[in-house]
Amino acid sequence: MSQTPETLHYPPQLRDFLAFPNIKLPDTFSTFMKSLLAICAIASISLISYSTFSNHSQWLNRSECEQTFTRSSYEDYYVLDHEETNISHILFGIGGSAKTWNDRQHYCESWWKPNVTRGFMWLNEKPANNTRWPETSPPYRISEDSSRFRYTSWYGSRSTVRIARVIKESFQLGLQNVRWFVLGDDDTVFFTENLVTVLAKYDHNQMYYIGGNSESVEQDVIHSYTMAYGGGGFAISYPLAAELVRVLDGCIDRYASLYGSDQKIGGCISEIGVPVTKELGFHQVDIRGDPFGLLAAHPVAPLVSLHHLDYVEPMFPGLTRINSLKKLVQAYKMDPGRALQHTFCYDLKRNWSISVSWGYTVQLYPSLVTAKVLATPIQTFVTWRSWSQDPFTFNTRHMSEDPCERPVIYLVDRVVEVGTGQTQSMYKRTVDEKGKQCGEKKYLPAFSVQYFNVSAAVFEADLWKKAPRRQCCEVVNGDHGVVGGVLQVKIRGCNRWETVTPP
Ligand SMILES: *[C@@H]1O[C@H](CO)[C@@H](O)[C@H](O)[C@H]1NC(C)=O
Ligand SMILES: *[C@@H]1O[C@H](CO)[C@@H](O)[C@H](O)[C@H]1NC(C)=O
Ligand SMILES: *[C@@H]1O[C@H](CO)[C@@H](O)[C@H](O)[C@H]1NC(C)=O
Ligand SMILES: *[C@@H]1O[C@H](CO)[C@@H](O)[C@H](O)[C@H]1NC(C)=O
Ligand SMILES: *[C@@H]1O[C@H](CO)[C@@H](O)[C@H](O)[C@H]1NC(C)=O
Repeated sequence: MSQTPETLHYPPQLRDFLAFPNIKLPDTFSTFMKSLLAICAIASISLISYSTFSNHSQWLNRSECEQTFTRSSYEDYYVLDHEETNISHILFGIGGSAKTWNDRQHYCESWWKPNVTRGFMWLNEKPANNTRWPETSPPYRISEDSSRFRYTSWYGSRSTVRIARVIKESFQLGLQNVRWFVLGDDDTVFFTENLVTVLAKYDHNQMYYIGGNSESVEQDVIHSYTMAYGGGGFAISYPLAAELVRVLDGCIDRYASLYGSDQKIGGCISEIGVPVTKELGFHQVDIRGDPFGLLAAHPVAPLVSLHHLDYVEPMFPGLTRINSLKKLVQAYKMDPGRALQHTFCYDLKRNWSISVSWGYTVQLYPSLVTAKVLATPIQTFVTWRSWSQDPFTFNTRHMSEDPCERPVIYLVDRVVEVGTGQTQSMYKRTVDEKGKQCGEKKYLPAFSVQYFNVSAAVFEADLWKKAPRRQCCEVVNGDHGVVGGVLQVKIRGCNRWETVTPP
């Protein structure tokens, strides 16, 4: 079933025991064994009371329990469970449909790695007979019939019931060594290295529900602030999934009036009492218009996902949506942890402010702009539902139509590796589509900069385990003017006491 080799074979019942949130794994192997035998004792007691009501129980009796848990399987388990979370510990469940598959396949294939990523595309029916399912896509499965469940939202689609059950059907496959279930749509783009970095910060033996909200307040008000949005994707740890699947079908009927599958899951998890842990790298992208402002002001957190790319303008003007994504992914692959990360520096010889969003864009302001302003997204977009100017779940700043009040914008051209663990990213100046250019004197020197050449050391994933801090940058070749139209910038960790402060 799974494409990755299964190295770990321990009884699925262990999963149920480990799903008890109160049982902490002890530090030494012998205490670990003792507590397992204690669990066997508890299990046999609960068997007595349980079997009064049911003649069929999934609990083992005590001697079966002790026999099943052989020493060697625990040694394997104990060692393997303490290894850092990697991509093979994630089981993806993508909610798709035979109908949307053709149009969305390229989004999925932009991040899916055959024989590396594990998981399935869940479809409502078999793809049409003439479709050869590509090896480059997640293998598909057909969802169980869900017509017996209630669905009463007048403005939604019944398919959300089927998609809410992807977590249950994924769990029931009983695949081994799964620490996290990650759910997403067929147009969700995951940045898997960063997803692993983020999940590895959390203890997968505890109950976690990790994701993000909608950017548009109107969506959060209608749907909820206290759930993880499915388009941005979210992660459920194994022990939480174990509790969730027991109550899910009841929740689906109970929350029949809720529009989306993610809302139904959110409702169900709130019955368990686990709040959503918000991670700032999950992006539902509930916006319309140009995503530039959002992407050019990413929070100080790894980029984990993007969504709705068919509903916003292409990320790079002049390229198609999919080619834009390919361009961003190319840059991302050169330095996953740094993708879209913001850095600001001043060129005090010219009183310029430079804002780098690594792998995507550089903005040059021919004046000294505070870090607070530079960090605020420029509002190049409107809200999702009503196409309004506001509100969003973050502050935005207005961008004037006047070219003399706008930064000069550069977009990534290419990223290359130079030496080990070092990259060079080149950003090329864009021409305003309306041909507007500021004629003011202070802008003229800025126009002599055709390219930014940004060097940086590859961002080590371990840095994301530390307290977050935006990195610092400096202009390298400023002394003798802008040679050959290229301004060189170096990104590095900040020095002690260093701040982005205008003189
Ligand atoms: C992931 O970790 C497991 C241990 O839990 C190990 O067996 C496996 O080889 C690792 N896989 C990758 C791709 O690093
Ligand atoms: C995945 O693994 C299978 C079996 O080992 C192999 O036949 C197939 O070619 C691999 N696919 C890719 C895309 O590497
Ligand atoms: C696919 O082909 C089979 C037999 O050739 C046929 O019975 C079935 O209805 C076809 N399905 C679709 C979706 O066209
Ligand atoms: C930069 O700004 C400072 C004060 O804001 C001013 O004194 C200085 O002359 C300016 N330098 C240039 C090169 O414009
Ligand atoms: C970019 O900068 C590096 C030095 O940091 C230099 O080696 C390289 O030649 C520069 N590239 C261009 C096109 O200027």
